[in-house]
Amino acid sequence: MGVSLGRDLCDLSELDALATSAGARVRARSVSRRDRPDPATFVGSGKVNELRQLANDHGVELVIFDHELSPIQQRNLTQALGRRVIDRVALILDIFALRARTHEGKLQVELAQLDYLSARLVRGWTHLERQRGGIGLRGPGETQLETDRRLIGQRVRQLKSRMEALVRQRQNRRRARERRGTLSVSLVGYTNAGKSTLFNALTHAGVYAADQLFATLDTTSRRVFLAPNEFMVLSDTVGFIKALPHSLVEAFKSTLQETVDADLLLHVVDASDPACQEQHRAVLSVLEEVGAAEVPRIDVLNKIDRLGQAPRVDRDERGVATAVHLSAETGQGVDLLRQVLCEALTPERYRLSPELEQQSGWLLHPHDLQALRP
Ligand code: GTP
Repeated sequence: MGVSLGRDLCDLSELDALATSAGARVRARSVSRRDRPDPATFVGSGKVNELRQLANDHGVELVIFDHELSPIQQRNLTQALGRRVIDRVALILDIFALRARTHEGKLQVELAQLDYLSARLVRGWTHLERQRGGIGLRGPGETQLETDRRLIGQRVRQLKSRMEALVRQRQNRRRARERRGTLSVSLVGYTNAGKSTLFNALTHAGVYAADQLFATLDTTSRRVFLAPNEFMVLSDTVGFIKALPHSLVEAFKSTLQETVDADLLLHVVDASDPACQEQHRAVLSVLEEVGAAEVPRIDVLNKIDRLGQAPRVDRDERGVATAVHLSAETGQGVDLLRQVLCEALTPERYRLSPELEQQSGWLLHPHDLQALRP
């Protein structure tokens, strides 16, 4: 059952999709009209009673709130509703845990989960405070709470050092790429916008694309040949979502680093989604949070087949491409995107210093990269 503070049930459609992605079947929905959350139970006491009734009527096992609950609110609600209560953050973490496939992805998810869990190891979860025997697990006089904290701390340190090793490997790969003068382009976009489908259309790589939220959690990079002897490295990245839990942004920093270090971002938008503008804004705010707001960007307005539109390129007054309208699935307009990438990413052009650029202006294409430079 999904619960949201909002204006109408439509607001819950994303939560529905997330819950379904995690394998739940949605039995009931409820919206609460409140200006601000109740510190103890998030919703008011009348609403709590209504939720309990609704949950009983529909045989609900799990109640999901479309907001972040404090540990205390979560505990109180679990007690008051008599069934498991989780929030948006826990749901997203769960999906991430289901989807992570590479070693790095799994480490990142586990770190985020431990971070979430440790915030919830508070006094008052009495079942965790019992003294419990466990030879070799527990120091003298430790409560279960202290033991849990210590074990979590150990595991976090272990995971962090493994992550650091992976980050170093990634940096080495990136340096090697830079030495070869290869340009890197990263796909970013709201979850389900069609990044993996576009990645496949551009690279024919057979990356997993599915109508699921967060089908991709791990960065995959492939060469894309744009012209004879000219290629770039394209990376597919984790999908973004509004209110991406901070612990996830933290844990996924190394994956998202690929985005920050890219020479160009292709921001894939599902143009057929009525919420596409809001999703576009949400992606920009995550980019800002990871420090990638300054990386040059071109919008890719995807799924035009659903809108019955023809492919096209939008350009600014200087002729620089700002958006490409295409369908990654049918392939319409993918050639236009290739052209735009060719225009934008000729390495010599891109790498020219401003002084050189002035001296050798004749080398530059009309749509050279001064516009793309931050
Ligand atoms: P995350 O892994 O969640 O970040 O998703 P993603 O952005 O990689 O999306 P993905 O490529 O997995 O596509 C999501 C769904 O949209 C899939 O069912 C695709 O088949 C569908 N899709 C992608 N591009 C198009 C398109 O151009 N037109 C239509 N109609 N569907 C598309």
